Amino acid sequence: MSPSSSVPVLTIDGPSGSGKGTISRRVAETLGWRLLDSGALYRAVGYAAGAEGLDLSDAEAITRCAEETRIRFQAATDGSDTHVLVNGHDATDELRTETAGAAASAIASIPSVRQALVDMQLAFRKAPGLVADGRDMGTVIFPDAPFKVFLTASAAERAQRRYKQLKEKGLGVTLATLQREIEARDARDASRTVAPLKPAADAVFIDTTGMGIDDVVAKVLAVVRS
Ligand code: DC
Repeated sequence: MSPSSSVPVLTIDGPSGSGKGTISRRVAETLGWRLLDSGALYRAVGYAAGAEGLDLSDAEAITRCAEETRIRFQAATDGSDTHVLVNGHDATDELRTETAGAAASAIASIPSVRQALVDMQLAFRKAPGLVADGRDMGTVIFPDAPFKVFLTASAAERAQRRYKQLKEKGLGVTLATLQREIEARDARDASRTVAPLKPAADAVFIDTTGMGIDDVVAKVLAVVRS
């Protein structure tokens, strides 16, 4: 048993737009635990691969890129979102785009790319605890986590939420296109052979359709405090 396995982990898995990012951040803040945004790692690798002009289906090249890309999270000093530095470049805004999400989803289906990111994710497990946000946190990366949640919501509602977020950031996209992209990404994430998007057998399933953020946060905290 590694020393870190005594550190509690709350895994929050689910499809894009299920509210995982916001909920994970709020829950981590409330508990005073660290936060792992694993999607940002896949987005960072996709971004770095794009910057190098690599073919996203070239497994060997993308795996090398995943092994070599330096990814650093930097807490903002002004209360805004954490910044993500990719090979020293602040790529926070680029990583949020739908293009970055689609690239992340594409490279995330390559088993050796997932393997290259395992140790980096395990290293986040430090006292007093960790909230791990992703697709395979409860199934593959932290299967021994004492607390597991799977968040979902209808595709229509998830598209609405993403639409609102992107609009607020001034990024132009239509709702119909977004819903199509979300459904395509879900299908790819759920059907890949390695670490597909699926709830861990011991996860608490929460359908957030029609729920406000505060209610979801309360439900997730209840899982940890129960
Ligand atoms: O959570 P997100 O939207 O930032 O994730 C972007 C993509 O990365 C997602 O479509 C699938 C992939 N991903 C993954 O395969 N495993 C994770 N643990 C997190 C993200």
